[in-house]
Amino acid sequence: MPRDTASPSARLSLAAQLRQRKPLEAFAAESDASAAAATDSAGRTRLRRSLGVWHLTAISIGATLGTGILVVLGTAVPLAGPAVWIAFVLAGVAALLSALSYAEMAGSVPVSGSSYSYAYATLGEGLAWVCGWCLVLEYAVSVAAVAVGAGQYVNEALGVFGLALPDAIAEPPGAGGVVNLPAALLVIVAMLVLVPGAREGAWVNTVLVVVKIGLLVFFVAVAFTAFSAGNFEPLAPMGAAGVSAAASRLFFSYIGFDAASTAGEEARDPKRDLPRAIIASIVIITVLYILVAVAAIGARPWETFTDGEASLVAIVAEITGQPWVAFVFAVAAVLAIASVVLTVLYGQTRIFVSMSRDGLVPRVLGRISPRTQTPVAGTLIVGGAVALAAALVPLGALADATSIGTLFAFALVNVSVIWLRRNRPELDRTFRVPLYPVVPVLGCAFCVLLMVTLGWITWLAFGVWMLVGAAVYLGYGRRHSVLARAS
Ligand code: ALA
Repeated sequence: MPRDTASPSARLSLAAQLRQRKPLEAFAAESDASAAAATDSAGRTRLRRSLGVWHLTAISIGATLGTGILVVLGTAVPLAGPAVWIAFVLAGVAALLSALSYAEMAGSVPVSGSSYSYAYATLGEGLAWVCGWCLVLEYAVSVAAVAVGAGQYVNEALGVFGLALPDAIAEPPGAGGVVNLPAALLVIVAMLVLVPGAREGAWVNTVLVVVKIGLLVFFVAVAFTAFSAGNFEPLAPMGAAGVSAAASRLFFSYIGFDAASTAGEEARDPKRDLPRAIIASIVIITVLYILVAVAAIGARPWETFTDGEASLVAIVAEITGQPWVAFVFAVAAVLAIASVVLTVLYGQTRIFVSMSRDGLVPRVLGRISPRTQTPVAGTLIVGGAVALAAALVPLGALADATSIGTLFAFALVNVSVIWLRRNRPELDRTFRVPLYPVVPVLGCAFCVLLMVTLGWITWLAFGVWMLVGAAVYLGYGRRHSVLARAS
């Protein structure tokens, strides 16, 4: 490559640039936990450190419990039959193994960029970009998917009074409508809550998390009153293939436990609290999911679950026979899903802050407002784009695309743990994965296994997404990379 003094990044070959790692010390300087100053060493406004361990746990639970258990469960039952609870266990094991790796990385590199930052510190700029691009699937695209799920419950709630919205304004094109208005409005409200400050958003989220845990506990209590052990026979009518297909589908419901790791720079004590929050949230979530799946199948024969129905509210309505109970349940479900939208949107904006600081995405996405100490412009841009996707794209397509991108990012986090242990053994780690290296190796293997079972259309969409990502990197990130310029 010819030398070009005007473009510093051109001095590096592409291969060398893709391999460049951001020094851990640079992350530490950016995210100095003791820093009380409102600006960093480069004079940029800092994010405010306002979140404790409960806020962080609530962010992870908030980002996780939602459309997966409330809507996608209904689409997995026809795949696995009564063994759907085993599918939850399988997907939960994959999530738990990766959660342990996330906890170790969050305790070693406690910044805001989640797995993108971990990959930048360990695997180099190329894989960090790939990871960041996958995180857009995990976060921005999943917000859209989740909001679409909420739309179904809005209609269930209104339907109790015969006021269900017409398809034209409740469904996207391709699913019989023109625009999914409830889904888009939900995203816009979440965006407006996030603008004033992370703590305000975290407070709203904590209330919503209490509501949704209460909702699922209520469901389990009601469904167990109609429990029939006979509904579990035969356990797996579609065999192991059906169970593993359902596990891949249900992986969507675990996405989000890592959201606390996007809050590293707003956590008061990130090295101590991030690992705790991640582990606590994955345990609470897994237990709740298995209970809900067992209760749902016990209450209703698996053959009666149909794709596209908000099945939990239907079960509650059948058992109680009270329309108002169904109404309250549906309203609480909308609030539950709203907290996913809120926290995942938050996560995406913070990942972009990290990426823009590194020069890989435009600066505007990382500009922190001195008044609110939040990325106001980035929040409005991301919120607007997600609202548009939620309004126009159907749920199924969004959910599977989200899962494949997330699994890829999780696999990279497991690899990062191994890289960091080998190359920086002396690093201060506030959490270490047990049974190293078995846990990260198995974590990575589980992610690959679940990716393989996703359909070829999902793989095709993923391939196209990654090609677009490569074009964006070559057209923008490569030329603006701060690390490459510093070299
Ligand atoms: N795990 C999130 C949900 O189920 C994406 O809504």
